Amino acid sequence: MANQPIGVFDSGLGGLTAVKELLNVLPNEDITYFGDTSRVPYGTRSKETIVKYAMQDINFLLKNNVKMVIAACGTVSSVAVDVGKIVNVPFTGVVKPTCLSAVKATKNGKIGVIGTSATIRSKSYHREIQRIDEKIEVIEQDCPLFVPLVESGFIERNDEIVKLTVSRYLKELKDRQVDTLILGCTHYPILKEAIKDFMGTNVTLVDSGRETALFAADLLANNGLLNESKEAGTCKFFVSDRPDGFASVADIFLNDKISHNVEQIDIEKY
Ligand code: DGL
Repeated sequence: MANQPIGVFDSGLGGLTAVKELLNVLPNEDITYFGDTSRVPYGTRSKETIVKYAMQDINFLLKNNVKMVIAACGTVSSVAVDVGKIVNVPFTGVVKPTCLSAVKATKNGKIGVIGTSATIRSKSYHREIQRIDEKIEVIEQDCPLFVPLVESGFIERNDEIVKLTVSRYLKELKDRQVDTLILGCTHYPILKEAIKDFMGTNVTLVDSGRETALFAADLLANNGLLNESKEAGTCKFFVSDRPDGFASVADIFLNDKISHNVEQIDIEKY
């Protein structure tokens, strides 16, 4: 079983930011990625819809014999909290690993959380942080324009639109002097530079993809599922909408030239 791939899914291609971190942390693991590009975004949808979509995404990965499932999507991890229970392999979302790291990082006990509207509405990060340490103050803000900004290529730190949007959303978090900020959505690491410029270098940014990759490595090790082979791992990509255009978008998220095969599947069958 250790030689089987790790399954990663997201509402779209944003989860590739988590794949990038997995490739750094676990370079010899094979990865099977599913991006639900025909139904993205999830962050504006109801809980019922998000749960239904997440179950189908997981079923698809399980049919592809993955040894572990990672919900890289902040929205799924926050709203469809029980979907991990249907999985008979190790499973993780992004909320728990990210909160553990943020609680370790804060010095003044004030943590900011940014995510999609569905994520912030769920209060998932708030609950998890206070479960770890109830004295910590958690200040949350949804940033619904960040996903379309990134997907439209507005990602440069000096772009006026990026700067203005970042300052509008993050002003209150800055005024309330959070010293740690959770980037609770797949797309937000792409805006890291602009967010850092606005929040200042004293604020620690916690990237959910990075923390989840580290957590997944521990989970695999604890279950005796690490792939011990010396060969570099390979990635397989599946999407639910037309695969053309994947390479250029993937380039933004994975920060790598993709020459990989991308296959389209019908997710409604799962
Ligand atoms: N992947 C989603 C997340 O991390 C962002 C895009 C969406 O709304 O589906 O919350």
